[in-house]
Amino acid sequence: MVNTKIILDENDMPKKWYNIQADLPTPMDPPLNPKTHEPIGPEDLSAIFPMELIKQEVSQERDIRIPKEIWEIYRIWRPTPLIRALRLEKFLKTPAKIYYKWEGVSPPGSHKPNTAVAQAYYNMKEGIENIATETGAGQWGSALAFSTQLFNMNCRVYMVKCSYEQKPYRRVLMENWGAEVHASPTNLTQIGRQILKKDPDNSGSLGIAISEAVEDAATHDNTNYSLGSVLNHVVLHQTIIGKEMKEQFKQIDDYPDIITGCVGGGSNFAGSAFPFVQDKINKKHPDTKIVSVEPLACPTLTKGQYRYDFGDCGGLTPLLKMYTIGHNFIPASIHAGGLRYHGDSPLLSKLTKEGYMEAVAYYQNEVFEAAKIFAQTEGFVVAPEAAHAVKAAIDFARMCKSKNEEKTIVFVNSGHGHFDLSAYDIYNNQKLCDYHHPYDKIKECLNELPEIKTDTQCNV
Ligand SMILES: Cc1ncc(COP(=O)(O)O)c(C=O)c1O
Repeated sequence: MVNTKIILDENDMPKKWYNIQADLPTPMDPPLNPKTHEPIGPEDLSAIFPMELIKQEVSQERDIRIPKEIWEIYRIWRPTPLIRALRLEKFLKTPAKIYYKWEGVSPPGSHKPNTAVAQAYYNMKEGIENIATETGAGQWGSALAFSTQLFNMNCRVYMVKCSYEQKPYRRVLMENWGAEVHASPTNLTQIGRQILKKDPDNSGSLGIAISEAVEDAATHDNTNYSLGSVLNHVVLHQTIIGKEMKEQFKQIDDYPDIITGCVGGGSNFAGSAFPFVQDKINKKHPDTKIVSVEPLACPTLTKGQYRYDFGDCGGLTPLLKMYTIGHNFIPASIHAGGLRYHGDSPLLSKLTKEGYMEAVAYYQNEVFEAAKIFAQTEGFVVAPEAAHAVKAAIDFARMCKSKNEEKTIVFVNSGHGHFDLSAYDIYNNQKLCDYHHPYDKIKECLNELPEIKTDTQCNV
């Protein structure tokens, strides 16, 4: 009888994160100062980030030790199980083996606390008492609220207005963990007031909420900013997922042929995939297919350009070289709130540009259809973001069926959907709209990007 769950002993939980910067075939393009367009130094970031995270951002060390205090907190829910989706395989009549790495078992219900705990810890160590942040779906905000509370810190969350309205229970969860939550754009910041003046009904975006949180941190004493995705140190902390997965596959003497996961800013998928991308770079497993999944309503990797752009809407953050559809992009109100970001992790973007990873995009109805198949076979109701990965895994399993191939597929199941039931309700009542972000709109936003001399653009 095959095991359904592959579970690591707590003592075998990784003690180090994996930093892919040590293995990159070519170096990263540096982040640039948003005004001078010159490479930034640590001092440019120290107003809003603790020095230890700034060091991790640029570190070339391959293995970075997880401090004992963080490791002890991870033990509340980690190691997370790798689960064989036997019932889904049977339903699809596929010869493929489907596994998923289940991150929905954390207290906030997603992969986000893997970095939230680490970020809160390093801020606390440097004497910071307040953290400002943004949140889309509310997963990141709740993970940070959970983590700051563990270290007796205050947390202020700018929550994208449409998610604030769609997901009131996420707000309650954050407040339960002691956070202050505001619907963004707010009247609390200069950038928020500017946006509301032009457009009082603005439904918000992650880009706007980031600007508000960065402004908050820069203008308040003893306050730092925390980002739930995109940056190198965030991805680094998420590699605990991929390192566990590798150990789990070793236990069953298997190795994935196809790895897939959803991409908002890229942290859950980069963190899961990078230990396997390392094997591709080192030519140990050169043929592994590593596929990011995004919504057609926010097609950053599939229709964007690889070039320098701001991380936020207000142009306050450093310019990052990444796939982007433009920082002024206002996404449609799809239910995968966490996948509505205009850019992507620079590391994931670079590895995609260089061909180590690839990407697909889906409409939200087909994604919810896949999530329902998953719920009716495997039982778990997944977050709309994670449902994108379910859809891709099902598509690959069907492809294996048509070619009669016995491949091993694994997808990252990044979170549960218990606070997303209103979205399922809309889908069940056939009232969910499909959006794709039109090419002309993407071009318009890309025309507003700063001109950087060294930028090599790829074609849309
Ligand atoms: C459950 C879940 N999965 C995935 C994401 C996307 O973020 P990232 O690409 O950084 O993992 C989010 C973001 O909010 C999320 O809540």
